[in-house]
Amino acid sequence: MNTSAAAQATPSVHAFTQEARDAIYHAIFSRRDVRGQFLPTPVPDEVLSRILTAAHYAPSVGFMQPWNFLVVQSQDTKRRVHSAFAKAHAEAADMFGGDRRATYQKLKLEGIVESPVGICITCDRERTGPVVVGRTHMKTMDLYSSVCAVQNLWLAARAEGLGVGWVSIFHQADLQEALGIPKGITPIAYLCVGYVSHFHDKPELETAGWLPRLPMEDLVYFDQWGQRDDQQPLIAHLQRDQAAAQRGREAIA
Ligand SMILES: Cc1cc2nc3c(=O)[nH]c(=O)nc-3n(C[C@H](O)[C@H](O)[C@H](O)COP(=O)(O)O)c2cc1C
Repeated sequence: MNTSAAAQATPSVHAFTQEARDAIYHAIFSRRDVRGQFLPTPVPDEVLSRILTAAHYAPSVGFMQPWNFLVVQSQDTKRRVHSAFAKAHAEAADMFGGDRRATYQKLKLEGIVESPVGICITCDRERTGPVVVGRTHMKTMDLYSSVCAVQNLWLAARAEGLGVGWVSIFHQADLQEALGIPKGITPIAYLCVGYVSHFHDKPELETAGWLPRLPMEDLVYFDQWGQRDDQQPLIAHLQRDQAAAQRGREAIA
């Protein structure tokens, strides 16, 4: 991110210092989904408390705070969650054809048993009653609110040096049963959390050749859906910032 140029163009007394902004972008660009590099080192409660509190300070539609945080530390519970994963994972492999199936089977897509802590973030869609400010018409906004909590936790964890891996390959009912989650509560994310030997520079699916990162200029439209305009100065900035991010650098002068 070109934070120094942005600061010159739009000075704001509310902007963070350069160092603080760089730290935020560093957390964003170096966050990874972690599956295979967990260390057995325990996560101290004070660190766990900080990342859970970061999650709780996420935005939520109508301030409904629909989340709960189910902290999983028992090996028995982790094994139950892992069995639910294994069943869905075997089914998932059959959904890919040809070479993709073989590649899929080689991917490691969870670290449920190896990670010292699991955290299931849920959504209670009834938490504040049927009518919620902001959820009156688009009913999925409460689910998205819990996703915001996931992302807050993920970034805070990165800053703490903790890896997080999101596991979603479950039949929802199996995950609910493994964790005793009642029917009215929606599991949003099962997260594997722990210290790691290293963070990969790039998404593992990118390195494995599964998919590339999409270019920003293909994703940004102006005024109407599908309307691109490569002459807009913003496009050149986006290309430059994405190139910098791709090189693993969080800031360019
Ligand atoms: C909603 C959601 C569900 C995901 N589910 C899984 C999963 O079941 N297993 C897995 O290995 N990664 C899962 N991921 C991680 C993505 O594969 C990962 O974010 C993506 O490949 C980009 O890599 P990065 O997070 O390291 O940047 C999930 C991510 C999201 C946002």
